[in-house]
Amino acid sequence: MLINSNTFPRFGPWAIPHGRPAVTSVCDGVLDAIGSTPLIRFDRFLPDADIDLLVKVEALNPGGSAKDRPAKRMLQQALDDGKIDQQTVIIESSSGNMGIGLAQACAFHGLRFICVVDPRAQANNLAIIRALGGEIETVTRPIEGDFLTARLSCVQELLQRHANAFWPNQYGNPANPLAHFHGTIAEIDRALSGDFDVLLVATSSTGTARGCRDFLRQRGRDVDVIAVDSVNSVLFGGSPGPRKIPGMGAGKVPALAAGQSFAQVRRVTDLQCVIGCRVAAQREAMLVGGSSGGVLATIATMKNELAGKRCVGILHDSGTRYLDTVFNDQWVQSALGIAPERLHQMVTQAEFAVSDEVLA
Ligand SMILES: Cc1ncc(COP(=O)(O)O)c(C=O)c1O
Repeated sequence: MLINSNTFPRFGPWAIPHGRPAVTSVCDGVLDAIGSTPLIRFDRFLPDADIDLLVKVEALNPGGSAKDRPAKRMLQQALDDGKIDQQTVIIESSSGNMGIGLAQACAFHGLRFICVVDPRAQANNLAIIRALGGEIETVTRPIEGDFLTARLSCVQELLQRHANAFWPNQYGNPANPLAHFHGTIAEIDRALSGDFDVLLVATSSTGTARGCRDFLRQRGRDVDVIAVDSVNSVLFGGSPGPRKIPGMGAGKVPALAAGQSFAQVRRVTDLQCVIGCRVAAQREAMLVGGSSGGVLATIATMKNELAGKRCVGILHDSGTRYLDTVFNDQWVQSALGIAPERLHQMVTQAEFAVSDEVLA
């Protein structure tokens, strides 16, 4: 019998989902498999909202995050420009995902890699970097209350210690936004033929948001790019404070972010990120990372403003990297002061509009 989607039922254990288009080409190595991530319709996340919500799932890059893209591009650019050779030590500051992306790209190119991290980095991320052959240098104390400043100062020390060293500098390298200009947003735009109204992007270096915004401007698209930042981040003004969700926000304005403007900037609390992640797991059966929870929480809190629109949220990484934090009730209680019963109530009722006082 010929087995195809007509001979199988639409529902039940034998149902064949429509699925993504068949893979029709072979990738030349792992770096060639970066990109072409799926766009998924989230129609259960806000069931009573009049929003066509689509998410770009960057966790499906081989290194597990959107950062695979700039990691690959920054190294390729440096190779093309003759700035690095086989003996060069690559040194970068990262809270995890860029470290993994660079560890992957360096391993592929046979380059030595030292990743400078701070104590907030997830142990599992460090294990992945080491498994890919990367070395870890951990700063233990913030400088002027900021770990990013401490990591960057450590990078400078390491660059002086190694005669042939290269710092990709994700916070200032134009190849970072360009990777998203030519990749992430180009893929979204192609998939939707430019037919979407709002793009929501979590920000730190602002590489993703900048690359996407510049592409949309260049194409003349009428799309609002909303930058999602953390409460207590200084990226778009304000003063620094404690932040528990890695990957989003900054305690110091990086070069790439200086003077950047977006249609809107929205700030989310750590707790809103947690609720966004947990509701996505419950309603969409998808484990998304902390900043992705922040993007989803932003959409939820803007639900009235976004009515009638097609919105795309970029989800930078997977919740599997946050099992000990965002998805751990004890961590939420000790880090954010929310008891498990209250948390479960907020998640079940999709209570996104929690005020800062709740954090106290
Ligand atoms: C999980 C996560 N979300 C969001 C971001 C922000 O991306 P960008 O640095 O391009 O602004 C990062 C960056 O490291 C990240 O790791």
